[in-house]
Amino acid sequence: MRVIESVADIKLAARAARCDGKTIGFVPTMGFFHEGHLSLMRAARSENDLVVVSLFVNPTQFGPNEDLDRYPRDRNRDVELAMGAGTDLLFVPRAEEIYPSDDCSRVVVRRLSEKLCGASRPGHFEGVATVVAKLFNMTQPHRAYFGLKDYQQTVVIRRMVADLHLDVDIVTLPTVRESDGLALSSRNSYLSPEERRTARCLKESLELAERRIHEGDRLGDQIRGNIRERIGREKLARIDYVSVSDPQTLDEVSQITGDVVISLAVCIGETRLIDNLVVNVTS
Ligand code: PAJ
Repeated sequence: MRVIESVADIKLAARAARCDGKTIGFVPTMGFFHEGHLSLMRAARSENDLVVVSLFVNPTQFGPNEDLDRYPRDRNRDVELAMGAGTDLLFVPRAEEIYPSDDCSRVVVRRLSEKLCGASRPGHFEGVATVVAKLFNMTQPHRAYFGLKDYQQTVVIRRMVADLHLDVDIVTLPTVRESDGLALSSRNSYLSPEERRTARCLKESLELAERRIHEGDRLGDQIRGNIRERIGREKLARIDYVSVSDPQTLDEVSQITGDVVISLAVCIGETRLIDNLVVNVTS
């Protein structure tokens, strides 16, 4: 595995691979790898000739009062893990090269970026779309891999790719979880033992909602209420949002007549966690 830090070098490597007729699989990340990240790298490994992973804690997707400065980082460990998962090129750019001081351009995916996490984190998806567009241009992937853990992110990126006519296939993979159901996240490292126990309520309330829908409940408000009631029992948990929405448009659903995505953002102490579940509904 080669670690590349400059944009010129990653572009050269991508161009050379394409000239050789190789397919490029790309996994964008912010590092502090866990099994969720590694599952994306392994999928990229099995489907492409060259696997490129980026590790960049993207400042533009963090709000002014968010955790950019304390976001967990461990470059040496990440290098080892990426290598073990079959990465060929680990791209670790410097912020000054991604966002030079005279940088003026942003990618805005309207409407979809304003809902759910976008409503609580204004500008977040503009930062995500902008950096992913830049990284796609640098790494020239045939396929790019994203986790469904960040469901809204996958919807925003797919929309951006379609709207800008980008030539990349977006591949999404299931959420990897701890044995008690908690979705793996770099931010789980912030949780105290008591908060970590409380954090189970996200997955538990999603499963409760899924059961209710499968039992025949069809009212969005009732499902949202069930989830709020379950999480409301936890003294360390504070709900940011609870959503039952259309999996494509992310519009809130009042009467459930087809598949829905249930999404949650909950602060456990100071740590904001998200989770979601797509529920298939046939009738
Ligand atoms: P990051 O949070 O590091 O996540 C990188 C990728 O790993 C994303 O596609 C995310 O959905 C996926 N991922 C995270 N936790 C997962 C889990 N438990 N199971 C499966 N996949 C999981 O998402 C970002 O970085 C950034 O927004 C980025 C796209 C890199 C742009 O800066």
